[in-house]
Amino acid sequence: MANKTWLFGYGSIMWNTGFNFETSELCHVKGWVRRFWQGSTDHRGTPEFPGRVVTLIESASEHCWGTAYRLPACEATNIIEDLDYREKGGYNRTELLLTLSRGRTITGITYIAHPHNPNYLGESPLEDIARQISFSTGPSGSNKEYILELHQALEQHNIQDGHVETLAQLILRQTESTS
Ligand code: SIN
Repeated sequence: MANKTWLFGYGSIMWNTGFNFETSELCHVKGWVRRFWQGSTDHRGTPEFPGRVVTLIESASEHCWGTAYRLPACEATNIIEDLDYREKGGYNRTELLLTLSRGRTITGITYIAHPHNPNYLGESPLEDIARQISFSTGPSGSNKEYILELHQALEQHNIQDGHVETLAQLILRQTESTS
């Protein structure tokens, strides 16, 4: 693995990083948005009742903020191997151009679940997505934990994401009305 391997996290990697890194900073990828359009049958759902997790969707005029992690050179190969396993439920390891602070661009690795993967669910009304997340759970825990942790991580970094915000509010409201 080359020196200075950077990894872009925009979903669970932001709040459940699970690997060593030398440094991290906020960055964005141009032409992509974060959406809860990927089905999860191995982490936050089951094959019978899939949960929903985020993927990146191409959208020319938008961009997605997340965290860029610089991996230690001596650990990068193992970290990537572990992430390939963790993200095996439909994600492909992909290289993207990351825009760091002051406009500096670097190439980084990220994991994208493209629409042709077998677990892809795609767009649905937000109320339906929220309901699916509220009731799904899998080997890694509840789907609700996934979105609420992501929502909190985005808030902590002052990242505005209307899609995640709306879903988190719908889920909190659904929880209140059923308790
Ligand atoms: C990521 O976190 O960057 C990839 C998607 C996920 O595992 O939630």
